[in-house]
Amino acid sequence: MKFYFAPMEGLTGYVYRNAHHAYFDKVDKYFSPFIFANQSKGFTTREMNDILPENNQGIVLIPQLLTNHAPDFIHTAKKLRQLGYNEINLNLGCPSGTVVSKNRGSGFLYHKEDLDAFLDQIFTQSVTKISIKTRIGKNDPEEFSELIEIFNKYPMEELIIHPRIQKEFYKNTPNLKVFTEALAASKNPVCYNGDLYTVKDYETFTADFPDVDTVMLGRGLLSNPGLIADITTKIKLDKKLLKDFHDKIYEDYKKALSGDVNVLHKMKELWLYMIMMFSDNAKYIKKIKKSDRLSEYDEVVASLFREQDVLDSRE
Ligand SMILES: Cc1cc2nc3c(=O)[nH]c(=O)nc-3n(C[C@H](O)[C@H](O)[C@H](O)COP(=O)(O)O)c2cc1C
Repeated sequence: MKFYFAPMEGLTGYVYRNAHHAYFDKVDKYFSPFIFANQSKGFTTREMNDILPENNQGIVLIPQLLTNHAPDFIHTAKKLRQLGYNEINLNLGCPSGTVVSKNRGSGFLYHKEDLDAFLDQIFTQSVTKISIKTRIGKNDPEEFSELIEIFNKYPMEELIIHPRIQKEFYKNTPNLKVFTEALAASKNPVCYNGDLYTVKDYETFTADFPDVDTVMLGRGLLSNPGLIADITTKIKLDKKLLKDFHDKIYEDYKKALSGDVNVLHKMKELWLYMIMMFSDNAKYIKKIKKSDRLSEYDEVVASLFREQDVLDSRE
């Protein structure tokens, strides 16, 4: 099985990625949170920092682009190629209102003729390999039967499917019926993404889909950064390792960001996921969310690690 780390805006940037790679290192490909492809402004400082090769040493990173305009994709792909990237991922999954209203992300899935014309241009002219990360439709899962016919026209590196429609955001459960049909119909290699939080989720999924050889993990891996090691070698997440990992991220954010507020904001976002690995965690996450000084944060995190156990992700 190949394991990919899902792109997650605000969470899986280069600081987090480097720490994960240093402490856990079992990921075949990391995907960058989306970069808005454009020709006028170029990369923002934040985007540039995230993809600079010197900030991603030893990591297989696939930059992800968000756009519905082929010249912007091609222009940005060329710039990424110059930085040394030979594969780019296209975001057709983002469900956020501001993205969808501009017919980007999963909003683009509703405009099938435009999508087909866009793909025709980028696959004809792009200078890199292209993979796609997609939802199964905007309003209705039935949309996917037409979408897969479009995707099948283009030889992509892989098709990463998160089997929800845009309207669901992260509600309900992934539509495994449509995923089954997609797997049978796709001419491109397929990677599965969605709701694999625990070893048990993974084992159930692989028993049901023995032919899938690549999965992308997002929230499950953010909660338990050692999930892949647990799946593949039955090594349980170690509290000391998790603490060292946390400290590395925390220290690196302090160096990369200006102001305690920004550092705390990043750490709080991460704790929304990581807290799930701790026993009796409710009062600690409340205090983490409330802390507005680094000293308060340090105190609550120290007491969490001292007083609570790390849970078994096999349960
Ligand atoms: C906070 C957050 C940010 C995300 N940012 C991105 C993104 O930049 N690009 C993308 O393709 N998907 C993004 N996603 C979707 C994830 O990559 C993934 O598809 C989703 O979380 C489902 O996988 P999971 O159930 O393993 O978490 C984001 C999801 C969340 C919750």
